[in-house]
Amino acid sequence: MILVLNGPNLRRLGTREPDVYGAETFEDLAELCRDTGRKLGEHVEVRQTDDESEMIGWIHEACDGRIPVVLNPAAFTHYSYALRDAIAQRTAPLVEVHISNPAAREEFRHTSVVAGVASGTIAGFGLQSYVLALQAISEMNTTS
Ligand code: DQA
Repeated sequence: MILVLNGPNLRRLGTREPDVYGAETFEDLAELCRDTGRKLGEHVEVRQTDDESEMIGWIHEACDGRIPVVLNPAAFTHYSYALRDAIAQRTAPLVEVHISNPAAREEFRHTSVVAGVASGTIAGFGLQSYVLALQAISEMNTTS
C-alpha cells in the first residue's frame, strides 16, 4: 500500500492555472497513480485536502502504519513547520513531488521546509512526477 497525499488547491487541477499545472484533472491524476500502482503491483490510495490538520493526521496514520507516502504538499511545502515535524516522524519512505518546478518559479517557492525530512524530491515533470515517485518508492520497498 502506498498513500498519495495532495495538499491545497490540487483538486482544482484542470481549471487551476492550466499553463502551469496542465489540463488534466485531479481525477485523471488519481487514475494515473492507481494505474501506475497496478503496474508496480502496489495498492495506491489517493487523497487530497485543503486542510493542514487533516494532512498532518494522514501523515501520522502513515507513520503509525509504516506506510510509504508520495506527498505533494502544495503551498504547505513553503511554510508548514507543523507538516515538516509530522514527516520527521516517518517510519517508511516519503517522496516529495511537485507538478511544476518550484525552483524555476517565484522566490517564495524556492524554499521547501519539508525537503530535509523527505527521502527525496521529484519536481517539474508534470503529472509524470507522481509516476517517477511511485516507481522510486516501489523500488525502495523491494530493496530495503
Ligand atoms: C506545487 C508547487 C507549489 O509551489 C504550489 O503551491 C502548488 C503546487 C506543484 O505541484 O507544482 O500548489 O506543489
